[in-house]
Amino acid sequence: MRTWAVQGDITTVRVDAIVNAANSSLLGGGGVDGAIHAAAGPQLLEACRELRRTALADGLQVGDAVATQGFDLPASWVIHTVGPNRHAGETDPALLTSCFTRALDVAAEVGARTVAAPAVSAGVFGWAPDDVATIAVRATHAWDEVHPGMLDEVRFVLFNAAALEAFERALSGWHRVVRRR
Ligand code: APR
Repeated sequence: MRTWAVQGDITTVRVDAIVNAANSSLLGGGGVDGAIHAAAGPQLLEACRELRRTALADGLQVGDAVATQGFDLPASWVIHTVGPNRHAGETDPALLTSCFTRALDVAAEVGARTVAAPAVSAGVFGWAPDDVATIAVRATHAWDEVHPGMLDEVRFVLFNAAALEAFERALSGWHRVVRRR
């Protein structure tokens, strides 16, 4: 699996699945969630409402993930996950690890081979980009070790230069570790 980071807008990326940093309601918000809903069109909100009427009547738990179609997006699928909110005292790194692990589980379940993910929890939810990057990179490579060959690519798509640098640092640290093995 190739892992790399790029600066950009995740709503424009041509991959099989993009990850959304949603909230438990699944009914939209600001940040990357708002951008994804705007680009996917109203059918995305309708699909999320349908999930709330059926399998997820109580909403999506922090650290869990669920798929919808991508509708007007270039990506076929949106994998919605709910990051921990530091401002609400959700400071356990295991919750953020779970976001990336579960998002990749769900991506593989729908048959995606290429996935793009944002810096979940690094915006409104208040986590430091370096912490998000370290956790995301570690979780993604750990997932790949357990599911070898299931995904071709995980691309971290970061909106700003600071987040891109954080992910590049985390990725280069990881690749140094792998080279030493
Ligand atoms: N593409 C890629 N990354 C983006 C985009 C975009 N179009 N727009 C924003 N981002 C980046 C932000 O700069 C930040 O680094 O995504 C990262 C996550 O920020 P948020 O979108 O604020 O997500 P999060 O911190 O997980 O907070 C989730 O925000 O809008 C709400 O509904 C959402 O309540 C939930 C909360």
